[in-house]
Amino acid sequence: MRILVTGGAGFIGSHLSEACLAAGHEVYVIDDLSTGSTKNILHLQDDPALSQRFFFHRDTILNREMMMELVGTCDAVYHLAAAVGVQYILDNPLHSIRINIQGTEMVLELCAKFKKRVLIASSSEVYGKHLHAPLTETDNIIYGPSSKFRWSYAASKLMDEFTALAYHRVSGLEVVIARLFNTVGPRQTGAYGMVIPRLTAQALSGQPLTVYGDGAQTRTFTHVADVVEALMGLMASPNTNGELYNVGGIEEISMADLAKRIIRITDSKSKIQYISYEDAFPQGFEDMQRRVPDISKINAAIGFEPKNDLDTILRQVAWYMRTHHSS
Ligand SMILES: NC(=O)c1ccc[n+]([C@@H]2O[C@H](COP(=O)([O-])OP(=O)(O)OC[C@H]3O[C@@H](n4cnc5c(N)ncnc54)[C@H](O)[C@@H]3O)[C@@H](O)[C@H]2O)c1
Repeated sequence: MRILVTGGAGFIGSHLSEACLAAGHEVYVIDDLSTGSTKNILHLQDDPALSQRFFFHRDTILNREMMMELVGTCDAVYHLAAAVGVQYILDNPLHSIRINIQGTEMVLELCAKFKKRVLIASSSEVYGKHLHAPLTETDNIIYGPSSKFRWSYAASKLMDEFTALAYHRVSGLEVVIARLFNTVGPRQTGAYGMVIPRLTAQALSGQPLTVYGDGAQTRTFTHVADVVEALMGLMASPNTNGELYNVGGIEEISMADLAKRIIRITDSKSKIQYISYEDAFPQGFEDMQRRVPDISKINAAIGFEPKNDLDTILRQVAWYMRTHHSS
């Protein structure tokens, strides 16, 4: 099959592209390299056995002509391109909304026009400020005020979900939505606010690990390889059409404990430094206290269960950062 991966030079997209190539597909990537990097896909471009089946286009998904050509050429589309990361959203508020709303709408419109199956990468951010766990796909959604720009990412991803489901109902578009919870692993950068690469880089360089607030807020983390397996399973299954699934890990950990675990795993002498949200995000920020997925729906649909535990993830991230000097 010919597979289009939007955002394929990004963290998850590059791993997905690799897995699609390994499964024997031709892979087309469109990425404007705003947060992605050619470093993530160089090994695919340089490998003579893979480069015949791997095609990279440095462009924006807002380029309609290019997108028409790519969606028209391919059999299925993984839509991962997005403005991502708390810090990036706060720094680029308008641009982020454009990419995440207009960009996704165009992808969906073209997939409906050319009758191509599409997977939309949504986010656990969509749930907003819940305190309960685990979060199920049918839960209500609670956001903060529009003056707090961090919610624009959640709202734009929610709008993507509505638009995808509307195309499914109105045009019969074959679409599946994956609500990804924190995904981690090699190649993720800490530059846009992602917590594990950021804390690991601090631990490896002997800097204090900066934890926001009191560190009691909890998350779960999923290895990117597990997420890629889930995405490919959702795309391949005929039963997932028009459905929405949580994709995430189940081990809940507070940010204070995560920092301690990273110090232990990296054998670092660093200390933990607690920073108030006001100091960390002067542009206005609200955090979510808990974010734990109920994964029974995806488990029933495709048998998904994460295989890699948190220690494995942390060891691999530390190894990657040591060997690639990334931040
Ligand atoms: N990593 C996570 O924990 C996580 C959690 C929830 C949802 N997601 C979603 O998964 C997807 C991939 O995220 P990621 O973590 O790999 O982040 P990433 O930043 O590494 O990947 C996004 C990619 O999209 C590209 N991109 C951005 N705007 C573009 C545009 N206009 N045209 C073409 N390419 C563009 C970026 O350059 C980047 O390569 C995103 O849709 C994100 O919202 C990720």
